[in-house]
Amino acid sequence: MSKFEQTYRVHQRHGQEHIFADWDELSPEQREELLADCARIDFDWLAQRRKELRDGPTAMPAGMIEPAPVVSLPQTEAERGQWNAARDAGEELLRRGKIAAFLVAGGQGTRLGFQGPKGCFPVGPVSGRTLFQWHAEQILARSRRHGVSIPLYIMTSRENDRGTRAFFEEKSFFGLNPSDVFFFQQEMVPCLDLNGKLLLSSPSTVAMNPNGHGGSLSGLRTSGAIRDMRGRGVEFISYFQVDNPLVTICDPVFIGRHVQSGSEMSCKVLEKNSPSERIGVACVMNGKPAVIEYMDLDEAARQAREADGRLKFRAGSIAIHVLNVDFVDRVAAGGVLPWHQSRKKVPYFTGNRLIKPETENAVKFETFVFDALPQAEKSLNLEVAREQEFAPLKNARGVDSVQSCRELLSRRFRRWLSGAGVPPPVSGRPGSAGAPEPVVEISPLYSLDAGELARKVKPGGFQLERFLLLG
Ligand code: UTP
Repeated sequence: MSKFEQTYRVHQRHGQEHIFADWDELSPEQREELLADCARIDFDWLAQRRKELRDGPTAMPAGMIEPAPVVSLPQTEAERGQWNAARDAGEELLRRGKIAAFLVAGGQGTRLGFQGPKGCFPVGPVSGRTLFQWHAEQILARSRRHGVSIPLYIMTSRENDRGTRAFFEEKSFFGLNPSDVFFFQQEMVPCLDLNGKLLLSSPSTVAMNPNGHGGSLSGLRTSGAIRDMRGRGVEFISYFQVDNPLVTICDPVFIGRHVQSGSEMSCKVLEKNSPSERIGVACVMNGKPAVIEYMDLDEAARQAREADGRLKFRAGSIAIHVLNVDFVDRVAAGGVLPWHQSRKKVPYFTGNRLIKPETENAVKFETFVFDALPQAEKSLNLEVAREQEFAPLKNARGVDSVQSCRELLSRRFRRWLSGAGVPPPVSGRPGSAGAPEPVVEISPLYSLDAGELARKVKPGGFQLERFLLLG
């Protein structure tokens, strides 16, 4: 039996033979390509996902979740002392080379609609500095501060791997040592139409999507990244996403508190600004640490309030984690995380043309990194200041958009400048009453934090104008 006949039969057995409808019209290369894609499909996995699709999403059982304990921002002298002690501990681990930075950048960025890897998006409010440059410069600056070369691991996907690597090459790795930058691709999984059928994304390719940021844990293991970390003596991973330029990568306070608390996986959280803010919440589920996705938290829990009027489930997780290398290895060895479904508009090829659907026509299956939390012996939720750490870039317009992200960046730098004694613009100038605020961008290589800026800038040394770019 030919390879085609064998493959066809397998697909027929699973009700998926329709993807060969145009087989006779394919070139020999296209046939090879399609067969190669088909060989990647795990039919046991597919059968399970089809069953879940038929059953529909599982409702969250009531009464089994509680708000998570959170270490709040320091208010008292004693708390500030603990914070400083954590910073010292984290800095010591950085100096000893125990920390790696881990950037997940394999997503499709469909909401932003940018051509190319999302990390190449020019987010800098003045210079158009890209997300990749922000992150790389931050790691370089932190490495210099602590006298180490912090290794950077970057997860890409089949769709953006080449573009991401080429961008780093073209930009000379933004000054990082190329031998300390490790790329790996996450796995792809097929998406299904609403009837559980495979789709084609071209005449010779099956429509697939990356397996979610949860795929980062197995990816770290199978790619050899964990082995590489162990070879370098790395014990802790600073996990962050490509689309938040305000993230503090390898934050010494966060690392210090994580280690001091004996946690295996920790989360940065902030107070949700409304029940409808679309971020997951940290909670305790069946006695175990967890994050519940916005969509999965039922309406009553989303709206529930404490006696003081604050949201009951208010600890929003902003997808910044510290994970122990041993923990990642253990979770990855133990199999995959649960699969979540989301309905999407997925272009598909049929009858010799590509259809771009107007409405959601397919389901994507993804795993989420925070689903590893219940496997942690211990987990810490650390509160951070929203304006200091969170500027998500998700959409082209509206909420969490290019405009809001740039404004949040600029606002943070204006605050740093004001703290450093730089006076606000004089009347009639930008930023004075009624006039637009100055647009400010500060490279991490110029100042990694407000304290460093204050040491560099002379109070009253210059006047803030419409635009300011430092570094
Ligand atoms: P999002 O959940 O915002 O998804 O990813 P996305 O794919 O980037 O964007 P949309 O939903 O298509 O608009 C949050 C972070 O997780 C990474 C993304 O690159 C981003 O840093 N991610 C997401 C992956 O690395 N792999 C995935 O499969 C999904």
